[in-house]
Order: sequence, then structure tokens, then C-alpha cells
Amino acid sequence: MERLQKVLAQAGVASRRKCEEIITAGRVQVNGETVKELGVKVDPKTDVILVDGQAINREKHVYVLFNKPKGVISSVTDPGGRQVVTDYMKGIPERVYPVGRLDYETEGLLLLTNDGEFANLLTHPKHHVPRTYHATVKGVPHGSILEKLQSGVKLEDGMTAPAEADYHDVSPDNSSAVISITIYEGRNRQVRRMFEAVHYPVERLKRVRFGQLTLGGLPRGKHRFLTPDEVAELRDLALRSHNIQKNGK
Ligand code: URA
Repeated sequence: MERLQKVLAQAGVASRRKCEEIITAGRVQVNGETVKELGVKVDPKTDVILVDGQAINREKHVYVLFNKPKGVISSVTDPGGRQVVTDYMKGIPERVYPVGRLDYETEGLLLLTNDGEFANLLTHPKHHVPRTYHATVKGVPHGSILEKLQSGVKLEDGMTAPAEADYHDVSPDNSSAVISITIYEGRNRQVRRMFEAVHYPVERLKRVRFGQLTLGGLPRGKHRFLTPDEVAELRDLALRSHNIQKNGK
């Protein structure tokens, strides 16, 4: 249990002193009752606290970088009982959810947060945060195939935007290759569909970069919190990517 004015201040309503004034002015309700006196203790996890009729944001925002294994759903629940990404977030008290999604079979870098505005900013189609994937295919696609992936391929929901594609690794016997591809859109199953369109179906797919963030040695199935600087940089990148597109630069 914590003092109401402290909980309000932590939720970003105002400074602790200003929150005291807000309480004594009768603007705060706890579980449907107006509370005017100071010193009332509340449970920030379970009590419903309103200021001027609006629920306060009780959870602090957290931002998580997760190395998703394959065979895990980018969701918070699965009616079929399969593993979901939040099964790996048990130690985090805040209710985080994935920013966009990776397919069940795709592994690699996935962000999770409880900051809805941040999640929308990164996934909104008008923003173009780069995402880099390593796609393993059978055989070694010719350079002209990579050029097609770069300039745009026709999918059932339209042409893909310009992308970058390069050889990341080629097996010594040329039986398989890992292509590094960077896309600036987040359509459903986009990378798999792009490779299908050029007749090199993806055997294995891993996201290795999102914006400026990389996995950086984070083991599969593990997560870490982003630093405030990383969050700010990602937010900037999303906003800038919108302007770049708008100004045609
Ligand atoms: N593209 C895909 O095909 N799958 C993913 O999980 C992400 C991007």
C-alpha cells in the first residue's frame, strides 16, 4: 500500500505537492469514492484511481528486447495452448505485449512494451523503421534475384517498397545461402512472401535488427530492457522515417 499522492505523482499526473492539491480539491476518486483527505493509502496494482474521471496510468512504461525462439506465438494468449512470447516475460510485473509480430516459425528480435503510443508509432504504416532479416534458402540465388528483391516484387497486396538485399553467407558446397534483407515496411509474412515470389522459399528466418537495435549476443529465449536512450533513438528514427518519406528525401 502506498500514499495516494505518491501513486499519482509516480503515474505522471503532476508533482507530489500539486497532487496533494488535486486530492484536496476533490478531483480524485478511489474505487468510486471521492477522496479529499491526504494520507489515504492505496494499492496501485488493484485500486481503480481516477483523476477528473480519467483512469491514471498506473504502470510505468517498460521496453523489452526479446530474442524469440521459433515455435512461439507473438501474442499474449493462444487458445490452442501453444507457447506465447509473454510466457517468457513472467518476471516482468508490467503487462507487456509485442510490437508488431514475428511468425510462429520466425526467430529473432522482437520488442515488447506496455506503451501503446510507442507501439503504434513503430508499427504504423506511415513510418518506415528498417528491419533486417537473415533468410536461409536452398541453393544460391543469382545476383539478379537479389536485384529484384531490392527494386520491388509483386505480391498479392501490391509491389514491395525498395529494400536492401545481400549475401550474408554461402555454404561451401553452394547448397544453401543466407541472404540479409532489410525492408522498410511491416506487411504480414512479407519476407517469406517476397522470397516465394522469386522462387526461393525461406527455410529459416531470423530478424537480426530493428531500427538501430541488434540482438547483440542476447541468447535465444532471453530478454533485456531497453535504455531510455535506445527508446528515444527508436522514437526519433520512426518520426524521421516518416518525414523522409513525405519529403521524398
Ligand atoms: N516477414 C516474414 O515473412 N515473417 C516474419 O515473421 C517477419 C517478416
